[in-house]
Amino acid sequence: MIEFRDVTKRYPDGTVAVAGVDIVIEPHSTTVLVGSSGSGKTTLLRMINRMVDPTHGQVLIDGEDVATVDPVQLRRGIGYVMQNSGLLPHRKVIDNVATVPLLRGEKRRAAYDRALELLDTVGLDRSLADKYPSQLSGGQQQRVGVARGLAVDPNILLMDEPFGAVDPIVRSELQQELLRLQGELGKTVVFVTHDIDEAFLLGDQVVIMQQGGKISQAASPAEILANPADAFVADFVGAERGKRALHVTELDGRRLVVDGDGRPAGVLAS
Ligand SMILES: Nc1ncnc2c1ncn2[C@@H]1O[C@H](COP(=O)(O)OP(=O)(O)O)[C@@H](O)[C@H]1O
Ligand SMILES: [Mg+2]
Repeated sequence: MIEFRDVTKRYPDGTVAVAGVDIVIEPHSTTVLVGSSGSGKTTLLRMINRMVDPTHGQVLIDGEDVATVDPVQLRRGIGYVMQNSGLLPHRKVIDNVATVPLLRGEKRRAAYDRALELLDTVGLDRSLADKYPSQLSGGQQQRVGVARGLAVDPNILLMDEPFGAVDPIVRSELQQELLRLQGELGKTVVFVTHDIDEAFLLGDQVVIMQQGGKISQAASPAEILANPADAFVADFVGAERGKRALHVTELDGRRLVVDGDGRPAGVLAS
């Protein structure tokens, strides 16, 4: 379990990126931090692996304050996947995936075997192992990024807008792959996005953040839709408009579900 207790981050220039945050992140589930640009998502995420330290409050992993853990040691148990994959351009795919295990002193052969298995895990052909990142499509690069995040066999996987830079079709494929992977691996995933649809698709828990790094609501997608905490959340999730404002209408004796724009979304099954 990851726990934020009254966590604030004020950067040296005075910017308050995160203010008084309390969140509980259950193990083996996916929590999505969602909010517009500048709402403090990346700052919050990076406090889990100590790439950022809070100026007030505590972050605990399984009851232990991360401030008391050596950052290098801490990151051995935490995978990190960045936007734009963050791959090293001058290293082959296989080397990118095996980098951290090699740094940890794993034998070359074992690290490479494991890296090849991880290519399978994320749905990449092993023939890509000897290519350089620039020879791969954007979607393939993101998959390599995920493989690299998994290479230390972490309990916790942090993902910062990992699918932000790819086109909508590839993005949708990557989202489905992540759902499949998570079904198999059951990691504690903390995922950052500014896209509420992505948050509702992937999150067991969705944390909605406002400017100034305050949390508006942290709950399951169903709870947020059924009972938005305030007007900001209702507006952010679009509960009262478009494809989420569904109502029922009758046509030829069948009950149709129609969205806020009047478009038919489906038929009520019962
Ligand atoms: N190193 C930094 N120094 C000063 N301000 C920062 C730094 N990093 C982020 N910020 C500011 O903190 C706020 C939150 O940033 P960030 O956590 O990156 O938000 P998000 O990921 O939601 O876009 C923004 O106003 C940003 O400009
Ligand atoms: Mg960010």
